[in-house]
Amino acid sequence: MSQSKATVEKEPFSWPRESETRVPYRVYLDPAVYDLEQERIYRGKTWSYLGLAAEVPNPGDFKSTFIGDTPVVLTRDKDGSLHSFVNRCAHRGAIVCRELTGNKAVHTCVYHQWAYEPSGKLVGVPFRRGLGGKGGYPADFKMEDHGLTTLRVDAMKGMVFATFDPATESLAEYLGPSMIENIERVMCRPIRVLGTTRQLMFGNWKLYSENTRDSYHGGLLHLFYPTFNIYRPMQESHTVMDARRWHNHFTVLKPTGTEGIEDYKSAKGMRVIDEKATLADPSVIEFKKDIGDRISLSIQSLFPSVVLQQILNALAVRHVVPRGPKEVELIWTFFGYEDDSEEMLTHRLKHGNLVGAAGYISMEDGEAVELVQRGIIRDEDESSFVEMGGLGAEDLDRVGSDENSIRGFWKAYREIMGFHPANTAKPAASAA
Ligand code: FES
Ligand SMILES: [Fe+2]
Repeated sequence: MSQSKATVEKEPFSWPRESETRVPYRVYLDPAVYDLEQERIYRGKTWSYLGLAAEVPNPGDFKSTFIGDTPVVLTRDKDGSLHSFVNRCAHRGAIVCRELTGNKAVHTCVYHQWAYEPSGKLVGVPFRRGLGGKGGYPADFKMEDHGLTTLRVDAMKGMVFATFDPATESLAEYLGPSMIENIERVMCRPIRVLGTTRQLMFGNWKLYSENTRDSYHGGLLHLFYPTFNIYRPMQESHTVMDARRWHNHFTVLKPTGTEGIEDYKSAKGMRVIDEKATLADPSVIEFKKDIGDRISLSIQSLFPSVVLQQILNALAVRHVVPRGPKEVELIWTFFGYEDDSEEMLTHRLKHGNLVGAAGYISMEDGEAVELVQRGIIRDEDESSFVEMGGLGAEDLDRVGSDENSIRGFWKAYREIMGFHPANTAKPAASAA
């Protein structure tokens, strides 16, 4: 870590003077930048997603996950409280918890069998006093000095987050009221977890983070959306961000007609919608208003790396897990409500076909991430162009032809990383 940090500091990183409207390709390629992200973003003053409280409902339940690329574990203690620890033995550094999920009163490291409670407290050290009066630890060895590294944990309506930095603001302050409003909307009643899928993409994690904030591509890359009138630009829709513009939320209301179809005939070279296309099973896009409002599409991206989504009746959390500068894993956790009828559960599972690695709507995103990663090779000093919709990152009464939320993401990124535009002594004032 320290070596790569030194590399970045030796060659100060000047962001292009156009600020958030240019993203230097170096940030998707350079291992030194990646290492600095782990330190400043994932171990800095941010809240990172761990999982859903419903994934660890009982005392002793646990889930292995990651903050950035650091392995961590989410646990529930015998008193019902939630904890998280870095998944690294306090003895000699081995991974302690090797399962993805399960239930354990005590986590025992396989190497020399040091044992820890779900809170991270060390409760067992074999041969601590030696064997036959020989060996063992010195008399001043104290169990309480050798627990696991624990993290600060907080939850918002069943979404559990943790932070490495004790000085990070509260989770509620970090998210802000406009983001909390949608979390409360989706998590409006007790949920039940339906399953998890994982996909590996050969691209930098930030390419996926941009993608979920990219309303420009939605109706273009994913032609399933406009073809079946799930989403077209010009439908009633909104883009809302928090006060700092770090997080964003897109909503689209269920269309009432065929608005926007003419826009698909406007640009040369544009792929044409097949207006005669039909589905063998139309129920795969039939929207049931189970949350109680007209919002049929809701994509909420929380900095740095989690997305809460509702696409028709498919509800899921997408956890973006960096795997080095050029790989990212996307973990989808699908859920419904505890009070779903059998019919609603079947319907929801069917809507799961819309999303995930091979989803009718989302499969192209993995390809788009990889296309960029392959396209930018060896050109670290060149930049992407992010001026659609202007220069700022303000809220909008639409979701469509703009890149406001992407600029919001880069604003957060630059502020936390300390990457300032060239020729300025401090971060440029936000255009928002
Ligand atoms: S490394 Fe875990 S007990 Fe030794
Ligand atoms: Fe997409």
